[in-house]
Amino acid sequence: MGGGDIRESFLNELAPVKTIGDLEQLRVRYLGKKGILTAELKKLGGLPPEERRSAGALLNETKIFVEAELAARKEELKELDLREKFASQAIDVTLPGKYTPPGRTHPIIRVMREATSIFVAMGFSVEEGPEVELDYYNFEALNIPKEHPAREMQDTFYVSPDIVLRTHTSPVQVRVMQRKKPPVKFIAPGKVYRCDADISHTPMFHQIEGFMVADDISFSHLKAVLESFLHRIFSPDVPVRFRPSYFPFTEPSAEVDIGCIFCKGTGCRTCKGTGWIEILGAGMVHPHVLQMVGYDARIYSGFAFGIGMERIAMLKYSIDDIRLFFENDLRFLGQF
Ligand code: DAH
Repeated sequence: MGGGDIRESFLNELAPVKTIGDLEQLRVRYLGKKGILTAELKKLGGLPPEERRSAGALLNETKIFVEAELAARKEELKELDLREKFASQAIDVTLPGKYTPPGRTHPIIRVMREATSIFVAMGFSVEEGPEVELDYYNFEALNIPKEHPAREMQDTFYVSPDIVLRTHTSPVQVRVMQRKKPPVKFIAPGKVYRCDADISHTPMFHQIEGFMVADDISFSHLKAVLESFLHRIFSPDVPVRFRPSYFPFTEPSAEVDIGCIFCKGTGCRTCKGTGWIEILGAGMVHPHVLQMVGYDARIYSGFAFGIGMERIAMLKYSIDDIRLFFENDLRFLGQF
């Protein structure tokens, strides 16, 4: 094959080459040890000298041409490769970002934190107790024996005859007193459970228990603590009143009302026309409760109270259905 034919067939084969691999095969086919051009070059030796010279020059030129074409195509293909790579990895910085809505603190948690920090500022420490509780702590040690009618005050979820879902945070009183000698002064925020569900009751809700026992604690300490708490969590001018009541674990017992914050005491639907809204239960710790944990009731006295967090949150944010707190509707939760 002459140099001109080789050049032509090489160009024909070069045209469709799309990859560096194919290009390499083509190089071997022409310039490799057994390549077409190499074979022709080898044949030169057998030609008569006059022919050898011109044929040799032609073949060499062809070889240089083929090498140059291969090199040029190689660069082209490399460049193409790079472009493809860039294109496939490109980031479109003009695309709109993915929106992640910010999380919010649940209104009950907010109120619970706010209430906790008010009590902590008054020197109360924070304690916790189990939600699955022994009947003993939930009832017996709080002066509510089995078959006592006061058990009817709360609809209890029983896990077994001796184990309940705690119906209030009051059992934490007993657990802390068993662990610590007086004086004790703490609050116990947490979840409580009652078999109850309507517009103002959910089977789970939140309370903060307050407790203080030392020598010489009187009802006026209780009044001062609760009044300043209510003034801080609602407003400094909200009226507060104590009403006599009954709890088995306190004597005397009281329920505490605030002046209705909707009608300012003139009477409305929320306060059922009374001008007052019940907000918590409280009292002086019953001597039986102290004696049962070995505290000397002749030396020590104290007060206790229990506050429903949902009730506080409903009043603070004007929410008229307690169930809204637990439906997880983002349109509701997003407002806080
Ligand atoms: N444990 C009571 C309840 O859930 C609330 C309560 C009343 C707690 C009086 C107290 C208290 O500590 O002294 O209904």
